Amino acid sequence: MVMKLPFLGSSLFLFLALVSVVASGFEKLPILSFDEGYNQLFGDDNLAIHRDGKAVHLTLNERTGSGFVSQDLYLHGYFSASIKLPADYNAGVVVAFYMSNGDIFEKNHDEIDFEFLGNIRGKDWRIQTNVYGNGSTSVGREERYNLWFDPADDSHQYTILWTDSHIIFYVDNIPIREFKRTAAMGGDFPSKPMSLYATIWDGSDWATNGGKYRVNYKYAPYIAEFSDLILDGCSVDPIEFSSKRCDNIQSPEQLMTRIAPSQRSKMDSFRRKHMTYSYCYDQTRYKVPPAECMVNPLEAKQLNKFGPVTFGGGRHHHGKRHHRSRADRSEADSI
Ligand SMILES: *[C@@H]1O[C@H](CO)[C@@H](O)[C@H](O)[C@H]1NC(C)=O
Repeated sequence: MVMKLPFLGSSLFLFLALVSVVASGFEKLPILSFDEGYNQLFGDDNLAIHRDGKAVHLTLNERTGSGFVSQDLYLHGYFSASIKLPADYNAGVVVAFYMSNGDIFEKNHDEIDFEFLGNIRGKDWRIQTNVYGNGSTSVGREERYNLWFDPADDSHQYTILWTDSHIIFYVDNIPIREFKRTAAMGGDFPSKPMSLYATIWDGSDWATNGGKYRVNYKYAPYIAEFSDLILDGCSVDPIEFSSKRCDNIQSPEQLMTRIAPSQRSKMDSFRRKHMTYSYCYDQTRYKVPPAECMVNPLEAKQLNKFGPVTFGGGRHHHGKRHHRSRADRSEADSI
């Protein structure tokens, strides 16, 4: 089937509107109940909905991880969750909050990721962001950071803002990464509708020092709490791919054109203090950094002291493989 994608003209207008939403405070955006916006993806009763219908607990134990997915596909928007990660010993545990269309476009999918990588006792969770466009999985664009708080102590808000020209990652409304579309990156900028996912899974082979520390189920269950789930974008009909419904777009008078200077200086400061890895400086992977990289000698020096930390490399699947194999098994069992 040939997919014609007629929505590429989606506009600067949306970008401006969304930036303005962020600037003017996300509190005004509606928080959907789980049943209104999401479906369980896998993990049977390892997914538990809180009494208020809005908070969700995702559990990983020796049996399975768990996850959920948005009911709709979105082309651009503001996607956010408050997340509290499991405390204590978490090596090998991965929590992911991400957008993808890998189920629809197996060969040329798009993806925008927040990934939380568990750690050994006494060391904090690491956080990673990544972007793939149109199947560009051989060009990882990962960045890694530590945070200015312990993400297992309390809930903190993690946000993906996605327009046709920018992707901005936020933590507690502070921009931590701005990924701009450039002509040189061609199709590597996500531009097809995606669903929003949240998962917890066993990343033993990958997550903590490239698989050196595996999940230890002695410390299970591992529970990640998701709340304040916000889906505010343009939903797209999954069959037609043509009709697009955008919520909460503000009027043009209220728009701002870019990250406000005060926000930008917070971003710069975050990146100076907390970034530990950027693909732009990984000379083992990229003799010549991808074209969008703006190499800055100070940043290079800062990152150099962390050394190239590998996380096993290659593709990983956010636990959906486990989902599939479990589903296959239970089908087999019931025959
Ligand atoms: C995306 O990938 C498909 C299949 O590989 C290709 O035909 C198409 O031109 C690509 N789109 C862009 C925008 O690069």
